[in-house]
Amino acid sequence: TGYLFYDQGYGNTGSCESQITYLDGDNGILRHRGYPIEQLAEQSEFVETAYLVIYGELPSPEQRKRFGTMLRENAAIDTQMMRIFDGFPRGAPPMGMLTSIVSSLAAYYPHLATNNFEKDLANFDLTAAMAISKIRTIVAGIYRYRHGLPFNYPKDVPFCDNFLHLMFSEPYKEYAAIPEVTRALNLILLLHADHEQNCSTSTVRMVGSSGANLFTSLAAGICALSGPLHGGANTAVMQMLQAIHDEGDDGTRFIAAAKSGSKANRLMGFGHAVYRNYDPRARIIGHACDVVLNKLGKTDPLLDIAKRLEHSALNDEYFLSRKLYPNVDFYSGIIMRALGIPTELFTTMFAIGRSPGWIANWKEVASNPKGRIYRPRQVYVGPVKRDYVPIGKRG
Ligand code: CMC
Repeated sequence: TGYLFYDQGYGNTGSCESQITYLDGDNGILRHRGYPIEQLAEQSEFVETAYLVIYGELPSPEQRKRFGTMLRENAAIDTQMMRIFDGFPRGAPPMGMLTSIVSSLAAYYPHLATNNFEKDLANFDLTAAMAISKIRTIVAGIYRYRHGLPFNYPKDVPFCDNFLHLMFSEPYKEYAAIPEVTRALNLILLLHADHEQNCSTSTVRMVGSSGANLFTSLAAGICALSGPLHGGANTAVMQMLQAIHDEGDDGTRFIAAAKSGSKANRLMGFGHAVYRNYDPRARIIGHACDVVLNKLGKTDPLLDIAKRLEHSALNDEYFLSRKLYPNVDFYSGIIMRALGIPTELFTTMFAIGRSPGWIANWKEVASNPKGRIYRPRQVYVGPVKRDYVPIGKRG
């Protein structure tokens, strides 16, 4: 039975029904559980939006408090897990470390990761809070480890402040929370909270569809996120902007190379598999860059370069005709840099932000009584039937 057609990259294939995120790429619309991203960015904060994405409703004050408490109570990682860190070379790529350490959660908490949907869902609230909180702690741990710094224990403070403490407190000096920094971090994480059936989320669903537990499915999602066309793009954008800065160029070289059509030379932070319009998250972050830098009293030459590059691209026939606009990654690195987060950690920050979306999608798969294992077909284009030739008779 031959299949005549297939859908390259599943670009036009709906793989599931979902109630989590609405995305209209032609008109640049993004809504979580019905709430426009612009309203959430303006009025909500990461933990509340995470709750919304996972549970479907904005939390009541009581629910918000309980969720926050669970995140705080589950922030620490098992002390044995420190030994996993110790096994890595100091310069190990952060995403490589993150995938391994997150997948180890299934081994540390086997009673929550049984690979039996019914049992795993019975503990879902706890497992979800553990996942979000521990991924955040692990990312900070990776930073401390890579820089040869002692690990910090989490404190009884809100989620983002805790991250900044885990990252930047020193034995001789506690990190002092700066409201603008906390707000900007909240915004960056919130804007990444979910994004429909992107590569990593589809991966989480696919792995989950086999019956795999949440932690294992999340680790697979983090692997998918690491690629330069997905989560790795935020790092690549900063490397590109830095190179333009160092060369004293105006970006012409990168734009010309991008137009060659080679995948390796794409303009990073531009284009999107679904948006044929400005990514609404890029608009929010682009605006926030000015506000945040201003509030922190900082300037960043890379922001000026990014703006000039955007201007050039948006006036170029190649980008216009293909409807290529800045995506979420184009400006996010500039804010993270202003917060003191090193470029090498950018994609791991994306992982923290996206964790609620992955969790919500895993939950949809695990709770769907009609769900079946994800198992796409293919169009076979290899050799037709041929007969085995013994090795002595092969020319
Ligand atoms: N620079 C130059 N050309 C591009 C770019 C780009 N950034 N993006 C797409 N194109 C070209 C592409 O080669 C194709 O050209 P042609 O029609 O001549 O063959 C045309 O534009 C249409 O491409 P598409 O179908 O819109 O792109 P896609 O769905 O295959 O890929 C993408 C989407 C996001 C992987 C791609 O735009 C890209 O590689 N962008 C740069 C990497 C990036 O910024 N990724 C972050 C995405 S948003 C956050 C996330 O998901 O992690």
